Amino acid sequence: MAEQGMAGLALTFLHIVFAGLWLGSLALMALTAGRGGEAFKLAARLGVASLLALGLVGIVNAYMLYGDIGSWFRFGTPTGRVGEKIVTFIVVAALAGYAFHAAEKKPGNARIAAALAFLASLGAVMLGLMLSRGL
Ligand code: HEM
Repeated sequence: MAEQGMAGLALTFLHIVFAGLWLGSLALMALTAGRGGEAFKLAARLGVASLLALGLVGIVNAYMLYGDIGSWFRFGTPTGRVGEKIVTFIVVAALAGYAFHAAEKKPGNARIAAALAFLASLGAVMLGLMLSRGL
């Protein structure tokens, strides 16, 4: 397990706050897709902002804690969790992007994509917990 100073603690705190906002926006997107309303657009905007902030803070924190970037991509090892999170990040961003574009024409698909992005993001939460415990 890597040592975390105050800066790392603050970054992890922000990371968790943005993760909560991201999960919240996905839930809202799943609930409001296809209703032609402002709520969906607002949720999508909050989602983009929180996912970007989540990723940015995550990368900076990962670099401070586990600076050897090569080790991030040795999947299946404790520091390989970072790379696994990056892959998950790309998958959830793609699913949410699809949900955004399908919301009007195929609301059913959009809801499923947002729900899948939500579930996959829970996977990233689990990877984060494993990462901080050195598992
Ligand atoms: C896809 C959405 C993501 C979600 C929902 C998420 C969620 C979380 C959560 C809940 C934790 C808390 C673990 C803890 O401190 O016990 C965490 C930790 C962490 N995450 Fe993420 N995360 C995501 C993406 C990323 C990405 C893309 C990166 C960077 C590449 C990243 C890097 C980290 C790091 C470095 C930690 C702290 C590990 C430590 O304290 O040793 N996360 N994440």
